[in-house]
Amino acid sequence: MSRVLFFGIAALLASAGTALASHGEGGEQQWFVNYTYIVAAIAFILALKWLSHPKTARRGVMVGELGMLLAIVGTLVSFEIVNYTWIFIAFGIGAAIGVPLAVFMPMTAVPQRTALSHAFGALAAALVGTAHFLITPEITTFDMIALIFEMLLGFLTFTGSLMAFGKLQEILPSQPMVHKGQNFINFTILGLAVVAGIYLIIDPSAMWMFPIFITLSLLFGVLLILPIGGADMPTVIALLNSYAGLSASLMGFVLNNKLLIVAGALDGASGLILSIIMCKAMNRSFTNVLFGAFGATTDSGKADDIYGGKVKSVSAEDVAMMFEGAQRVVFIPGYGMAVAQAQFAVRDLANLLQAKGTTVEYAIHPVAGRMPGHMNVLLAEASVPYDEMVEMDDINPTMPQVDVAVVIGANDTVNPIARTDPNSPIAGMPIIDADKARNVIVIKRSLSPGFAGIANPLFVAPNSVLFFADGKKAIMEIIAAVKAA
Ligand code: TAP
Repeated sequence: MSRVLFFGIAALLASAGTALASHGEGGEQQWFVNYTYIVAAIAFILALKWLSHPKTARRGVMVGELGMLLAIVGTLVSFEIVNYTWIFIAFGIGAAIGVPLAVFMPMTAVPQRTALSHAFGALAAALVGTAHFLITPEITTFDMIALIFEMLLGFLTFTGSLMAFGKLQEILPSQPMVHKGQNFINFTILGLAVVAGIYLIIDPSAMWMFPIFITLSLLFGVLLILPIGGADMPTVIALLNSYAGLSASLMGFVLNNKLLIVAGALDGASGLILSIIMCKAMNRSFTNVLFGAFGATTDSGKADDIYGGKVKSVSAEDVAMMFEGAQRVVFIPGYGMAVAQAQFAVRDLANLLQAKGTTVEYAIHPVAGRMPGHMNVLLAEASVPYDEMVEMDDINPTMPQVDVAVVIGANDTVNPIARTDPNSPIAGMPIIDADKARNVIVIKRSLSPGFAGIANPLFVAPNSVLFFADGKKAIMEIIAAVKAA
C-alpha cells in the first residue's frame, strides 16, 4: 500500500507541477480543470489509504466517489464538447445498469458484480482507444504504441472479466477447463496479437489488420480465464483490475489527460498489490493461480481416512452447555457464513454471550470467504464493532487461551494440514489456529470440503465437535438454547 501511495503522490506532484506551469497560459478554464484534477487525484490517494482499514473504509468510499465526481466535472469542461446530449444518454444508460446492480445484487454476489464492472470499464477504455485510432488522421508512433497496448489490455480484460463473471455466477462451469498444450496455444495467440499490434504501429493505415488484432485480443482474454477454477476468480479479478487500470493509464497518455494517467496507475498498482497479497495469504504463486488449474480434483479418499468413525456430532443444547462458564469465545467465520447470511444471527449470539459477561472476538483470516475483506464487510454490515474483529496474526498467539472457538462456515482457513502436510494444496498457507483453542465447535452442513477440496482433521480433533446445519439456522437454534439454559 505504501508503494501505491508513493507512486500516487509522485504522479500527483508531477501533475501539480504541470498545473502550476500552465498557470496563465491556458486561461480560466484550464486553471479550473487542472486544480479539479489535482483535488480529484488527492481524493483517489486518500480513498486508497482509507480503504485499507475497515474503520476508515466508509470514508474512503465517499472520498473516492467525490474524486470521481470532480474528475467527471473536470473532464466535461476540459474538452471541446460538441454535443452533450450523447454524453448524458450514456450517463443514463450507465446509471440504469449500475444502480440496479448495486442495489439488488446480494452480498455473496459481490465478486461477480466486481467482475462485471471491470468488464464494462475495460470495454469503455478499449472503445475509446478504438474511436481514437479510427478518427485521428495522424497518430504519432509514441501514441500508437500506447494505443495498441491500451486496446490489447482493454479488450482482453473485457472478455477475461466476462469469463470470470460467468464462472462465479455458474453460467460457465467453474471447474478449470484444461486441455493438452493449453499454455502453448494461449501464448501463441497472445504473441500473434502483439505481432498484429506491432504491424499497426509500423503501418497505422493497414486497416485490414485492425479487426484481426481486436479478435486475437478478445480471444486471448477468453482463453486466459477458462483454465482457471471459479474459486480462484477473486485473485484473477484483482489482476484484471490492474490490467484495466494500466489500460486507462495508457489512454491518459494518448488523450493527454493527466488525471487518467494518475487514476489508471493507482488502479493498476493497487490491483496488482492486492492480487499479490491474496496469493501470499494462500501461500501460492502467481503462476500457480494463473496456470495451476487449482480445485480440479477433490481428495475424497483421504477424507474417509481422516474422518472415518471419528466425527462427534452435537446439538444446539450441547453447544449452549459448552458456552456456560466460557470466559472467552472467538467466532471464526468463513465462506459458509456468507452463503448462509448468518452474520446477523452471529452478532445476536455474541450480544447474548457478552450480556452474560463472556468476552467475544472474531478471528479474521485474510482470505476467508471469496473476496478480500469479505468477512470484515459481512460483520460490519451486522454492526459488529471493529475492535472485536481481530486479524489472524494478532489473534493466533492468544488462541490457546480461548475457551470456545466457533468455526462458522470456515474450512481451509482453519485446516491444520496447511502446517503438517507439505504435499497438500494449502501447504504453508497461514491459518487461524482454531485447533489450539480449548474447545472447538464447527458449524457446517456436511463433511464437504472447502475451496481447496481437501479434508480437514480439525473436524475430528479431540477438542472438536461438529454441529451439522446451515450456518444461520444453527446459530438461531443455539441462541434459543442459550436463552433457555
Ligand atoms: P472454505 O474453505 O471455502 O469452506 C467453506 C465451508 O463453508 C465449506 O466447507 C462448506 O461446508 C461450508 N458452508 C457452505 N455453505 C454453508 C452454509 N450455508 N452453512 C454453513 N456452512 C456452509 O472457506 P474459508 O475457510 O473461508 O476459506 C476460503 C477459501 O477460499 C480459501 O481456500 C482461500 O484460499 C480461497 N480463496 C479466497 C479468496 C479471498 S480473497 N477471500 C480468493 C480466492 C480463493 P458444507 O458444504 O459442508 O456446509
